[in-house]
Amino acid sequence: MSAIAASAIRQHLDRVRAQVDEALDRLLPSENEFPVSIHRAMRHSVFAGGKRLRPILCLETGRLFDGDEASLLRAACALEFIHTYSLIHDDLPALDNDDLRRGKPTCHRVFGEDIAILAGDALQSLAFQVLASPGPPVDSVKLQVIHELTQAIGTRAGMVGGQVADLEAEEGNIDAQRLDYIHASKTGALIRLAARSGALYAMAAPESLGRITTYGEKIGLAFQIADDLLDELGSTEELGKTAGKDREQHKATYPAFYGVETSRRKASELVEEACESLEPYGARAQRLCELAHYLIERTS
Ligand code: IPE
Ligand code: IPE
Ligand code: MG
Ligand code: MG
Ligand code: MG
Repeated sequence: MSAIAASAIRQHLDRVRAQVDEALDRLLPSENEFPVSIHRAMRHSVFAGGKRLRPILCLETGRLFDGDEASLLRAACALEFIHTYSLIHDDLPALDNDDLRRGKPTCHRVFGEDIAILAGDALQSLAFQVLASPGPPVDSVKLQVIHELTQAIGTRAGMVGGQVADLEAEEGNIDAQRLDYIHASKTGALIRLAARSGALYAMAAPESLGRITTYGEKIGLAFQIADDLLDELGSTEELGKTAGKDREQHKATYPAFYGVETSRRKASELVEEACESLEPYGARAQRLCELAHYLIERTS
């Protein structure tokens, strides 16, 4: 990606991020609402500062097919609530045992494990409340997105299944197929769903949905490869989470399995393929293609 394109996409991401943050703030219970500890914990983790990639993906695929902005924004927020729940639980002592997330102390470090577990639970149910709330799109579309989301975060090649395989892989050798299962499930499935959800909300035609699905799958895997590379090569300061933890915890990662160079090459091949799948849309898909490049060129 050229320096000009990189700076344009960053500016665009900043603008969309601000829109998403405002909507997240409206949807979350206030800190003063009883019981205050859980609402503070939820807000702590949501507003610790995330890239908002899943909401942005939902909004951008929805915009490609002229979806309704207000309903896309609600779906986008629901995805961020789910993602933040997954981060809170991922950081718990029983899972990755992390002290730092999004540049702040993790939820359990500030509020205790009990409240952190419940804050994750609460963000998950808030997500479904938001998705099922009245208003457009038609109920059949909402139901499909809810159904697909439950699969994307469930145990069958979804986020929870991937997290379990990730934890169990710490104990032994795995093969390339299992590594791809972990990555596609723990991270890829929600990213794929984020891309699909915008297109579904905008009633995209089946062949368009197919192209968006391919795009989502490719960038989902590329994203997790980049996350592994950043853990290996990045700094704690820039990442806002502890660098070098994967190696320390013997995690199954792309760089551990394939080495840094092959991992980089695979990530950039996936991004090229993701962009190719959107070629029929020409310049209208430029943003989604730049977003794909940003996912692997980011430093945090
Ligand atoms: C980190 O996701 C967790 C993974 C799924 C690898 P992000 O890198 O999108 O984290 P935030 O939302 O920007 O903090
Ligand atoms: C976490 O993967 C994926 C989910 C939260 C579902 P990682 O454990 O690699 O994420 P980081 O590196 O802690 O953000
Ligand atoms: Mg983890
Ligand atoms: Mg982790
Ligand atoms: Mg990681």
